[in-house]
Amino acid sequence: MDTPILSVRDVHKTYGSGQSRFEALKGVSFDVPEGQSVAIVGKSGSGKSTLMHLLALLDAPSGGSIALEGTDTRTLRGSRLNRTRNKTFGFVFQQFFLTPRASVLDNVILPLKIAGVGRAERKRRGMAALEQLELADKARNRAVDLSGGQKQRAVIARALVNNPRIIFADEPTGNLDSVTGAIVEDILFGLNREKGITLFVVTHDEELAARCDRRVYIRDGLLVEDSVAVAA
Ligand SMILES: Nc1ncnc2c1ncn2[C@@H]1O[C@H](COP(=O)(O)OP(=O)(O)OP(=O)(O)O)[C@@H](O)[C@H]1O
Ligand SMILES: [Mg+2]
Repeated sequence: MDTPILSVRDVHKTYGSGQSRFEALKGVSFDVPEGQSVAIVGKSGSGKSTLMHLLALLDAPSGGSIALEGTDTRTLRGSRLNRTRNKTFGFVFQQFFLTPRASVLDNVILPLKIAGVGRAERKRRGMAALEQLELADKARNRAVDLSGGQKQRAVIARALVNNPRIIFADEPTGNLDSVTGAIVEDILFGLNREKGITLFVVTHDEELAARCDRRVYIRDGLLVEDSVAVAA
């Protein structure tokens, strides 16, 4: 069998210490093959975003391990970690929102700038991503002036500009009306199907979760149900 794109083994995450110590993840294990779409589902405070941050290498587990295509991610540090994250992942997170006063294009090409891509190529790829998201006409607008759905599409344009292998989306449709939410969903699943991008979606929306290949249920820091039975 192919090496899973992500392999999670007995992952723990503890926040704080002493009185305020809190174990947000208590030993989570699962493997994800490349190209799968995975919904992470569970109540507020169950540990979904915590798990997503660990999978996206934005934070390190307190215990256990995460392998990215067989590479133990504990061996990735400093600039190598940053490069891996920037090259391999796309983020659709509310806390990584757009820089409000910068133009939509400048927001979208930020990952290319970090990767050291030249100016002309950045613009070409940034505009191509904006065209895919039907936002090319807004390239020069300030990000702050976009509507909510347009902002979310700009965030997706930024997430895909680097041709990532994995897209992480935390409540991608949470603040959108149902029509705009459906458009954003279709874009994400289109990228998953057509480009084989692995997709992780944290969501409270059951219909969105049902569209994913797999649903992983988190309760009180534990994986309590997995719609795909895997021998871990
Ligand atoms: N930086 C932190 N310091 C201390 N506790 C934290 C921190 N981040 C998260 N927690 C706690 O860990 C638990 C899990 O948080 P997490 O953000 O993963 O939940 P969630 O499942 O994403 O919830 P929601 O659906 O509300 O977004 C919560 O009890 C939260 O208060
Ligand atoms: Mg959350």
